Amino acid sequence: MSEAKIYDVPAHYSAAGTRNSPEDYERRYAQSVQDPDAFWAEEGRIVDWIKPFTKVKDVSFNADDLHIRWFEDGQLNVSANCLDRHLAERGDKTAIIWEGDSPDQSRHITFRELHADVCRFANVLLRKGVKKGERVTIYMPMIPEAAVAMLACTRIGAVHSVVFGGFSPDSLAGRIEDCESTVVITADEGLRGGKSVPLKANVDNAIRTPGGAGVKTVIVVRRTGGSVNWDGSRDHWYHDLMAGESAEHQAEAMNAEDPLFILYTSGSTGKPKGVLHTTGGYLVYATSTFANIFDIREDDVYWCTADVGWVTGHSYLLYGPLSNGTTTLMFEGVPQYPDWGRIGKVVDKHQVSILYTAPTAIRAIMREGDAPTLESKRTSLRLLGSVGEPINPEAWEWYHRVVGDHRCPIVDTWWQTETGGILITPLPGATALKPGSATRPYFGVRPAILDNDGTLLEGVAEGNLVISDSWPGQMRTVYGDHQRFIDTYFKTFAGVYTTGDGAKRDADGYYWITGRVDDVLNVSGHRMGTAEVESALVSHDAVAESAVVGFPHDIKGQGIYAYVTLQAGVEPSDELRKALVAHVRREIGPIAAPDAIQWAPGLPKTRSGKIMRRILRKIAAYEFDGLGDTSTLADPSVVDNLINGRKAG
Ligand code: PRX
Repeated sequence: MSEAKIYDVPAHYSAAGTRNSPEDYERRYAQSVQDPDAFWAEEGRIVDWIKPFTKVKDVSFNADDLHIRWFEDGQLNVSANCLDRHLAERGDKTAIIWEGDSPDQSRHITFRELHADVCRFANVLLRKGVKKGERVTIYMPMIPEAAVAMLACTRIGAVHSVVFGGFSPDSLAGRIEDCESTVVITADEGLRGGKSVPLKANVDNAIRTPGGAGVKTVIVVRRTGGSVNWDGSRDHWYHDLMAGESAEHQAEAMNAEDPLFILYTSGSTGKPKGVLHTTGGYLVYATSTFANIFDIREDDVYWCTADVGWVTGHSYLLYGPLSNGTTTLMFEGVPQYPDWGRIGKVVDKHQVSILYTAPTAIRAIMREGDAPTLESKRTSLRLLGSVGEPINPEAWEWYHRVVGDHRCPIVDTWWQTETGGILITPLPGATALKPGSATRPYFGVRPAILDNDGTLLEGVAEGNLVISDSWPGQMRTVYGDHQRFIDTYFKTFAGVYTTGDGAKRDADGYYWITGRVDDVLNVSGHRMGTAEVESALVSHDAVAESAVVGFPHDIKGQGIYAYVTLQAGVEPSDELRKALVAHVRREIGPIAAPDAIQWAPGLPKTRSGKIMRRILRKIAAYEFDGLGDTSTLADPSVVDNLINGRKAG
């Protein structure tokens, strides 16, 4: 670990007006953890407050008295911070560069134009009766109207819940029901890689289920012009509603701890959790981390490839960049369309200086060889970023050598939907890099490693990654289920936030994230609960039981491996296997489709009926040695059976 190759801060980089130096990092980090109140009182002023805060932090991680409050007596508005405050100096600067799915479609939207549209849409929402605190579901493709919808919600104090456009009608309905939203904003269709995605039809189908029955208003952006069904009592075209609206709107003064948004994410058990973020702390954290970690300069063109349906698309496509007045590029398409050189070509076309993407995309592009990427110059790039899963050193080296032409530092940023913003990361100009390591904590962040008994491990160590104290961007609750919040994050180990990830710390104090220690999968950087996939599988008539685990996958990082026990009398077949994959796609969405299904006459269970996933993970990974103690199994012979099945399959 400590022998890993080290990339020092490049001289050209530190000379170029970088925000951080190694000494600054050590000094500011020490100050931030010794006196978090003082540090965040100062950092909190990087956003505009309608009413300044006088209190900074009021937190207890004690499960019996859990509370997390930041800047609690301050008032502000997120949309005003992202738009209004830039109008005087940056009104004509491009806020969003939109690059369409097709390479001949793009648009530039200035801060002034975006402000006008957001004000108009805020007025539309008010006219439709949307109230402060009410939840609005957004199910949209990567088009500027998605940003308008999100910002308009924050402008009037409505709480948005963005649902990734790849989720099925059932998944959408579940999320609509959980947060009781009556308004859905969508598009006729999405467009990705030349193929259309039937978003409006999915919304119609979601509304037909009991979960979606409460929806009263659907606002539809016309993206492709494809034909859609229409219910005149409920459906409205976005452009019709916008046409008559005023572009004036006074942003609502929100309390710092008012809810800002809900984002559903998978846990190890049960249905997805509605992660709730609040206004002041989230915005301060997104603004601060974005500025420092991407070392932002006024003329940067910043490109984050994440979809707005994920937290990265919230904090580092939209809120972090716009709050800093940075030009952010929104890409509707996919890296392989029309060819594998697209990412580099978009960089050249818009002179992108910072590219932030996921290891799964890097591996997929790398697999095609250097040639497609080398069709572009990429000389505008200054900095690269990685997010979503551990980046293997080979992909890191390729990203550095080919995409960044040996010139650009890489920030490998570790964080979660729950953390709101990046917690462990290099700072360009300050941190020497080790490929595969997320390196050091951001200011104010106190990571620690505990063994399974909760003992704090010092120095070089490996174990459970926890965070010992709060940071402003931390989630505040699971929407509608505060007990679940406490149970999930504050009960495993007392007095700390449990991340669910494992990590190693090396002799230089660098962190190396080793992946989830719970039953959460990370498939192409997307989180998926094994329990969700299992319950989709058993909802099929042919299936009696199933157990789902992750297995190593070259491109996706982790693939989904499902062991399936069929109902008595049902014969396994290739058709059935395909039908089950299609069933899971329909139930949850394409991202949950199993990569492999193994028929399992029996599953390895303890005498008390608990499935031993450790064994299933090993068999899926083709590691048949060291399966550990199987003597506690009710029927140890099932293991041989499964091994034989794996070898045969
Ligand atoms: O396991 C970690 C992994 O992604 C999980 C969080 O997933 P999600 O909430 O969907 O957020 C993804 C985008 C922030 C974490 O628990 N993860 C995320 N970034 C990294 C990572 N693992 C290793 N290195 C990273 N840079």
